[in-house]
Amino acid sequence: MNYTPHTFNIGTLDGISTKSVEEHLGLYQGYIKNFNAISELLSTYAKEDSEKHAHALSELIRRRSFEFDGMRLHELYFEQFEGGPSSWKAGGALEQQFAQEYSKPVYAIEMLKAIAKMRGPGWAILYWDPQAKQFLTGFVGEQHQGHFATLPIILALDVWEHTFLLDYGAQGKGKYIDAFFKNVNWSIVEKRFLELQ
Ligand SMILES: [Fe+2]
Repeated sequence: MNYTPHTFNIGTLDGISTKSVEEHLGLYQGYIKNFNAISELLSTYAKEDSEKHAHALSELIRRRSFEFDGMRLHELYFEQFEGGPSSWKAGGALEQQFAQEYSKPVYAIEMLKAIAKMRGPGWAILYWDPQAKQFLTGFVGEQHQGHFATLPIILALDVWEHTFLLDYGAQGKGKYIDAFFKNVNWSIVEKRFLELQ
């Protein structure tokens, strides 16, 4: 089955240009196109003796999870801008959990900002571990290296260079990260969290 790109209802963002968002959406669509193309090749190989295609298979299998995670992470990322910026519910479950783990909820954002500023292309991610009932924060290299297996993602912040080069230049990662948090619709992040309780 082929995957198809989602559409996102993203208005004008503060500090992230429409052109940058449009180009970024183009990259997102590229992940889906590549995922589908690789899957098609793999399904051809699946009907033959895999041993014959061992080298090609190993490359395609590695590439495919990169493309898939690129697709899904960008869907989480763009959804966070839908509906425009809003804060989380004051006194709500998300805020309470932040307060419990970070003393001040704003420190959760500071932690994510610090992770986002790490060097290398990747993502700063906030996960929720339903088993331990706690957040885990992490840096995912590229799209797929460093995930916590099985943990659902609450917030995904893309910090590849393509997110900030156009608006802020090569040194502009920090400004972009600040802009990202100005535009997050926390009610969407909160909904992801509440659905796991
Ligand atoms: Fe991206």
